[in-house]
Amino acid sequence: MKYKILIVEDNKKLACLFKEALGDEYDIRLVHDLKQAKSCLDGIHGLLLDLQLPDGEGLSLIRPVRQINPSCVIIVVTAYGTIQKAVEALKFGATDFLEKPVDLEALVQRFQDLFPLQGLQDLVAESSEMVEILQMADRVASTPFPVLVTGDTGTGKDVLARYIHQHSGREKFIGLNCASVPHELADSMLFGHLKGSFTGAIETRKGLLSAAKGGTLFLDEIGELPLSLQAKLLRFLDSGCYLALGSSQESKSDARIVAATNKDLKKAVKNGFFRKDLHFRLTTFPIHIPSLMDRKDDIIPLVHHHLERVKQVLGRRIRLSDGAKELLLDYYFPGNVRELFNLLDRTALLTGGDITHGSLRPFLSPPPEDKPAPGDFWSESRGHVLKKEKELIGAALTATGGNKAAAARALKVSYKTLFNKMKKMGL
Ligand SMILES: Nc1ncnc2c1ncn2[C@@H]1O[C@H](COP(=O)(O)OP(=O)(O)OP(=O)(O)O)[C@@H](O)[C@H]1O
Ligand SMILES: [Mg+2]
Repeated sequence: MKYKILIVEDNKKLACLFKEALGDEYDIRLVHDLKQAKSCLDGIHGLLLDLQLPDGEGLSLIRPVRQINPSCVIIVVTAYGTIQKAVEALKFGATDFLEKPVDLEALVQRFQDLFPLQGLQDLVAESSEMVEILQMADRVASTPFPVLVTGDTGTGKDVLARYIHQHSGREKFIGLNCASVPHELADSMLFGHLKGSFTGAIETRKGLLSAAKGGTLFLDEIGELPLSLQAKLLRFLDSGCYLALGSSQESKSDARIVAATNKDLKKAVKNGFFRKDLHFRLTTFPIHIPSLMDRKDDIIPLVHHHLERVKQVLGRRIRLSDGAKELLLDYYFPGNVRELFNLLDRTALLTGGDITHGSLRPFLSPPPEDKPAPGDFWSESRGHVLKKEKELIGAALTATGGNKAAAARALKVSYKTLFNKMKKMGL
């Protein structure tokens, strides 16, 4: 079964670009206005939604979609300067937003990360480290305490935050990536504002803390939260109260905060980028997810779990040879679980058969100490590199039947990079 994604975007060229970037892995339907969109909501697993459509606001689609499929992955695309709309979208139940011009790679990665979160059974935890983490998460889930999830990129912080929410008995889950919010708007996004409190505040708006009443507010990349707001957040965590911008009257919310970061917050505290008191408050329940190489017992179960998914998409069973298993167990996974899944996707797609030591090996990054020093790199012949690049691109294009977006994903380069390289090489 392929996940069905509905793309609602009135710019036809852009809609096609989104489709190509997402590739054959999904069953994609393109529509260009609200009217058409409304007639194809049944059965979709994902929605990529432009907010400004010729016949109305894309926002109006979010509620009906949520009603039909509560776990639908809804990604909203906003034009520059309309980020307030994105906040509204999150309040209505959008999963995330991306600003135009959309980074296609980020878009593909977002769907790839979010689809597996549709069902709870999807969280793999076999290693003793992960079992302990889940026990901890189970204990804290139903309490109102804030939780801080830390861990390297791709270790599963998003997954765990959602797991905690799903076991909390709370209703709404609103996620905000603090890194994607312009500093000057972050205050109003989180805490809301009164009409006239700043230029452009033409009406009073509630913030995400208010929208997340009775639910969970997931603050991803919390290390990016501006210092001025850290004090405000701390006050909220201590008292449940906050002041909307321009208001002198306190508001209350019982939203539960789950925060995540892949940064070393202790270091950020030391360097003055993160408030010590907020760090202290958030670490009442710290949960650290170890890197994948430090919990190797999860690797093979994660492989089986993901290959099951690949089987549904490709329609054929893919096995992992003993040699490939050994290679994975020895690998250091700088991108953790995300990298493992991407590796399996690419190898499965490019080799067409089972995953063996030989087919997997070229996709692994060399260990850091084996990486050539800058001097060595420049001494390499550029012509040699170009020849190799051409070879790799050719092989990827052949394997993907000429689909550039799929080839780019397989090669782990951005669509734009592949496009530019092909142009230069005259391919
Ligand atoms: N324990 C797990 N079981 C199943 N899938 C997992 C697990 N951990 C991570 N994944 C998968 O790995 C991918 C990356 O996970 P996730 O997005 O949660 O990472 P992250 O820690 O939030 O990374 P980042 O710091 O880059 O935001 C997702 O596709 C997710 O479903
Ligand atoms: Mg994340």
